[in-house]
Amino acid sequence: MSDKKNSLEINETKIEFSEGQTILEVATKAGIFIPTLCYIENLTPYGGCRLCIVKVEGMKGFPTACSTSAQNDMKIITNNKELRNLRREVLKLTLSEHPFSCLVCDNKGKCEDEGRNESKAGRSFGCFFCSSKDNCDLKKITNYLEIDDVEYQLEYKNSSLKRADPFIEVDPNMCILCGKCVRTCNELRKIGAINFANRGHDTKVSTAFDLSLIDTNCQFCGACVEKSCPALVCKNLIMFSIDKTHVPDVKFV
Ligand code: SF4
Ligand code: SF4
Ligand code: SF4
Ligand code: FES
Repeated sequence: MSDKKNSLEINETKIEFSEGQTILEVATKAGIFIPTLCYIENLTPYGGCRLCIVKVEGMKGFPTACSTSAQNDMKIITNNKELRNLRREVLKLTLSEHPFSCLVCDNKGKCEDEGRNESKAGRSFGCFFCSSKDNCDLKKITNYLEIDDVEYQLEYKNSSLKRADPFIEVDPNMCILCGKCVRTCNELRKIGAINFANRGHDTKVSTAFDLSLIDTNCQFCGACVEKSCPALVCKNLIMFSIDKTHVPDVKFV
């Protein structure tokens, strides 16, 4: 990345940037919030969640800020009524395949005040019993976009839990297909034990031939849990629950 300074406008404020930065990187550095669910700093943008859409003067449609390079003299809007409505619809579609009932429940504040204990891995039908409930970006962004109803019918995948592996348990029903775990395993750990499988509605994160992780080259480093699902999307996730007392002390590369 060169040090040559260019400038663009975000929400009518002039901001300098370096060549090679994306719109999201420029905005984030300037303290401008753009919602994301599939972005991980320094890893290849996936462009899957489409929550980071922005409006760029002269560009058709709504480019995703995480995968669009910043250009000199760009004029970018990161938040207006149109973008907000689009983001709400996009997130509602994601929620329609995730147990969302707690997120839009009239009593959700009351439940949270009661402060139930975290539950360990298991089939979760909503935030109330979910081990991610105290640190969940999906929940935070749903609140940020003030979604209090999802008109789409819930399509619960009803997939079996995967509990055969020693350290990691998987509830595929909670996965929002952000791809963070896949990129973490492939790009950060350079192991490639998991990837997307199937297409369309049947898309899922899987090992090759759907083997148990222990039958793959997985090193049970926990990076997919610690560096993706739990920390950045949904703590203890969505997909994985990990018994941290037995995790080998592997340094992330
Ligand atoms: S992952 Fe987040 S949104 Fe989903 S049930 Fe758990 S706390 Fe709620
Ligand atoms: S398991 Fe988690 S990190 Fe991986 S794709 Fe699903 S939601 Fe994203
Ligand atoms: S535990 Fe480590 S090696 Fe195994 S799938 Fe996750 S990131 Fe890949
Ligand atoms: S963060 Fe840009 S598409 Fe998901």
